[in-house]
Amino acid sequence: MNESEFVPMVIEPPPFTGSLPDDGIDHRLPDPTSHDGPASAPGVRSVIGIDVGGSGIKAASVDPVTGSLISERVRITTPTPATPDAVIGTIVEVVDLVMDRDGATRLDAGAPVGLTLPAVVRSGTVSTAANIDPGWIGVDAVDVIGRALHRPVVVVNDADAAGVAEMRVGAGRSDDGRAVAGVVLMLTLGTGIGSALFVDGTLVPNTELGHLPLHGGDAERYAASSVRKAERLSMKSYAQRLQEYLELVERLLWPDLILIGGGISKRADEFLPLIDLRTPIMPARLRNQAGIVGAAMLAAGSGSAPTAG
Ligand code: BGC
Repeated sequence: MNESEFVPMVIEPPPFTGSLPDDGIDHRLPDPTSHDGPASAPGVRSVIGIDVGGSGIKAASVDPVTGSLISERVRITTPTPATPDAVIGTIVEVVDLVMDRDGATRLDAGAPVGLTLPAVVRSGTVSTAANIDPGWIGVDAVDVIGRALHRPVVVVNDADAAGVAEMRVGAGRSDDGRAVAGVVLMLTLGTGIGSALFVDGTLVPNTELGHLPLHGGDAERYAASSVRKAERLSMKSYAQRLQEYLELVERLLWPDLILIGGGISKRADEFLPLIDLRTPIMPARLRNQAGIVGAAMLAAGSGSAPTAG
């Protein structure tokens, strides 16, 4: 296809309705540590999910129904400065890498790509840039990334994507296979604090609860996982900060369940027992795959590939 003729589709991520298809497919939780998750259903095409973070751009081809990774996860260091041009160049590279690996066999050339950014993204356009280069503000990410990849693209906030994955195949999924009912809040603790809010399984996008005011500044500057490392806080001191932040969130939202994601969630047993809230709180399950998986699920649900719900 001639590049100048390519007009990317703008695809609005559909809301998750809280139900999964009764399709006889094994929806067991994917193993977060490998790409040998439950077998994919025959005929289900994989979708590329890409998670753009402050330190790395990670991608894999994903079975959007089971959430298991079809290809090995690839990672390239995020360029500095992370300007749109530099990041888009790296996105093209990671997609090429995924295509080179085992995912290529089940990816069709025009299959949509799901991508996360650590920013408010509305109708594909970036509105904030707390932890990325300010050059992203106002960029129509669906348009420019779609043109670079020659594929339709769905672009969503990173925490929202991670939350969608957890609600469908992770800690936010109840025993009957549906998303946990009520108000569920997923918080990702990483470079910043991301949030994804669900009401009966439906995402309320771009909640940005990492920017609640705490101690005269943004809460994420006080309680993100990166702050623990930068200030060399013990887990006990970090848990005290989280306690303050979570009490604030709890006072404002009265959620029914809080899920804690981000890289630090694998050490949840070191800090969650020190947290005392009225709300039940649990570690997320998909660890650093959640963003990739959720992005792929949202892209699959855009109408161009088999959907997960
Ligand atoms: C950004 C959010 C993002 C979070 C986690 C925050 O600084 O404002 O959009 O979800 O970091 O990356």
